[in-house]
Amino acid sequence: MEAREQWRSSLGFMLAAAGSAVGLGNLWGFPYTASQGGGAAFLLLYVLVVLVVCLPVLVAEMVLGRSTESSPLIAPIKIGGRLWQPMGWIFVIASCGILAFYAVVMGWTADTFFHSLFLGLPKPEEAGAFVTSLSTGSSVFLGQLLSLVLTAVVVSAGVRGGIEKLAKWSMPLLFGLIVILSIWAATLPGAWAGYKEFLLDWNLDELFNPKTIRLAFGQAFFSLSLGIGIMVAYASYSNKKSQLPKEALVISGMDTIVGILAGMITFPIVMTFLGQGEIQKSFVQTLFISLPTGLNSLGLTGQIVAVLFFGLAFIAALTSAVSLLEVPVSSLIDRFGWNRNQAVIFSTSLIFLIGIPAALSDKILEDMDTYTKLFLQLGGFLICILMGWFSTRKYDEDLAGCNSKIRVRRYLKFMLRWVSPIAIGVGLYVSVFDLVKPAVT
Ligand code: PFF
Repeated sequence: MEAREQWRSSLGFMLAAAGSAVGLGNLWGFPYTASQGGGAAFLLLYVLVVLVVCLPVLVAEMVLGRSTESSPLIAPIKIGGRLWQPMGWIFVIASCGILAFYAVVMGWTADTFFHSLFLGLPKPEEAGAFVTSLSTGSSVFLGQLLSLVLTAVVVSAGVRGGIEKLAKWSMPLLFGLIVILSIWAATLPGAWAGYKEFLLDWNLDELFNPKTIRLAFGQAFFSLSLGIGIMVAYASYSNKKSQLPKEALVISGMDTIVGILAGMITFPIVMTFLGQGEIQKSFVQTLFISLPTGLNSLGLTGQIVAVLFFGLAFIAALTSAVSLLEVPVSSLIDRFGWNRNQAVIFSTSLIFLIGIPAALSDKILEDMDTYTKLFLQLGGFLICILMGWFSTRKYDEDLAGCNSKIRVRRYLKFMLRWVSPIAIGVGLYVSVFDLVKPAVT
């Protein structure tokens, strides 16, 4: 057995975890989801779910990884016994399922990047042809394959040499770019209308709308990469001294800020160049059509912004994809004693095959996105039960060992036992209700 790798530094771990969290879910999913009706109510619910429900689960997921020093497949068994084996499988299956369609969207991102760079941006009347070329034909498979191969290369280079290195240069670049782009977007004539639509459009009824609740829970878990074992895998390479509560707060804070900034880029652009209806049109529409077509009217500046935005989105997606692949890879290494390369090749090939239906149909892709989000919440719920109720001693010992404040620990444990599982249970119930409702009525 090779010795278990460790992150070079706690900053490296934090950047890698933030790299997992910040991705297409923020840059594309967040503005799209926010535009589905909830407005400010969605945003408020989202932030509440992150701070109140997700944060304790994030810490618990990290403790699960660090205290067992095991992969997501094995960690639940080590801590709770054989009965908890299905939880590990849920993690592995969900991460493969998500990466399968995520890689397709990464492919569209790469395609839009190259299109913006070499061919320029589509005019409004060319939008239809642009969408067709983006989401159909062989270029989709090429993009999906390219994305998975790049992901595989980083993961096979290992925790320090691949994942940490990539996160260390790409995350600061990403933050810099996103801040610059949001400042630029603030200067557009439609900026205020965009903010109003996205941040300030308040309707109390939306707070109780099942769809808004489902979208807020799903988006929060997806965006934080929570409930799927990623943080188990990453924290298992982490040092016993690092203060997980603090790190979890930084990671979720960065992720939320990037999501909001992404909205502050997208909404002004769409409002300035295209108008309100445009952003809600479809899943693909929001980012991959509205943005390039809108930017086309700015000439060279628009082209530069598009190249920066889609380049940035691809790098953000890569650091997330890498974390998704690490779940099956570390599990195969742990469970069957395979070497890293074998595990990477096997997992990547399988994920490519699972992703083919999503590459062929936007509808299947959208369904995969909707339903896998339920898995994340189920995973989060199980983590609350395992760490909050079955393994409280291990949980307490691990957090006490890293000198986190007793007040913080008490708060987190209370939330983990009483608030998060109940809230996730309600969220899951409402989400399933919202999804089956159209079929029933
Ligand atoms: N959190 C990443 C994003 O927002 O794009 C991607 C992701 C990773 C989503 C892991 C879901 C997940 F379970």
